[in-house]
Amino acid sequence: MAAVPQRVHLKFLVNGEETPVSFAPYKTLLEVLREDLNLTGTKHGCELGECGACAVLIDGEPHLSCLVLGVECEGRRIETVEGLADGAELHPLQAAFADLGAAQCGYCTPGILMTAKALLDKDPNPSRETIKEAISGNLCRCTGYQQIFEAIEEAAVRMKP
Ligand code: FES
Ligand code: FES
Repeated sequence: MAAVPQRVHLKFLVNGEETPVSFAPYKTLLEVLREDLNLTGTKHGCELGECGACAVLIDGEPHLSCLVLGVECEGRRIETVEGLADGAELHPLQAAFADLGAAQCGYCTPGILMTAKALLDKDPNPSRETIKEAISGNLCRCTGYQQIFEAIEEAAVRMKP
């Protein structure tokens, strides 16, 4: 039986940059991002696919990074909350969350921001129901969701050309 390598050496495309990374092959994408790439904006919650805190975009689609193996991501386009701002300028979602008090403790916020970005990239004018559906896998213990829904709607307005 072939020996399992202790580490694999791959390249991801992380927030627009080709990123070489070396990690133990059993690690999840969440672990690779946080422990091997030092991108700790993506939060570590339940590790069971139940809270949404770890959501990132892979090839533009939201995925729970605790359920994806790092080795599955070779050559794929990964977007994390660290890549949302444009230099010093916040993404409209980040600005709306700050302005409308949609981030309180902030633990759920990176996952919700990334999930909402995927939604607005596809549907620039989503209904409240569509927003609810899109973030239904993201748990927030603090806000009651109202401010989150309103912030996503506000960001959609601010993003209109
Ligand atoms: S940490 Fe991934 S869904 Fe909770
Ligand atoms: S702001 Fe605290 S869990 Fe959502």
